[in-house]
Amino acid sequence: MSGASPVAPLREFVVAFGRLLDGGPDEPRILSEGRALLRTLVARDDWLPDAFAQPDPAHYQQFLLHADSTERFSVVSFVWGPGQATPVHDHTVWGLVGMLRGAEYSQGHAVGSDGRARPEGKAVRLDTGHVEAVSPTIGDLHRVHNAHAGRVSISIHVYGANIGAVRRHTYPAEGGRKPFVSGYSNTLLPNLWDRSAEFRSTTSA
Ligand SMILES: [Fe+2]
Repeated sequence: MSGASPVAPLREFVVAFGRLLDGGPDEPRILSEGRALLRTLVARDDWLPDAFAQPDPAHYQQFLLHADSTERFSVVSFVWGPGQATPVHDHTVWGLVGMLRGAEYSQGHAVGSDGRARPEGKAVRLDTGHVEAVSPTIGDLHRVHNAHAGRVSISIHVYGANIGAVRRHTYPAEGGRKPFVSGYSNTLLPNLWDRSAEFRSTTSA
């Protein structure tokens, strides 16, 4: 689209996601229609500004890209350095994970009667363009790691809350669970709303 900002696909995604939630849909509908929206977003890899695609040598990064004004949802880019992984954790809200660049593994977990979280089922490999879902109703505990030991992978996540400020948990190997509030790696957000170029291009003689 001539004159459109490079981040236009992300703006269109957040507008469409807000419209989806406006109708107060139930979780299955959010996950199925939201999955289609996220699949469209990650089908192309030309819109994520470089500032939100930078790995850190020590830890995976989670950059907030957009938070809904009433915190109904948030959009985050997860940047995985080579071999980086999360601890086993929960979300407490629905979430969608779309693979933008590279690949990752998500290993579901369940807490046994001894209070320890253990792997459940096979790890799911997400390749570029794939979308997965998590939630307390369909399975909320997992451990995620970069499928690549030698390159960066990036996934785009959407959650049913301002996820960086949600009280949730990690599940250490010795059992039990620890309170966890993830926060974000960034203090500044991408500017989704400068649409001047697209209007200038249609009004110029
Ligand atoms: Fe997760």
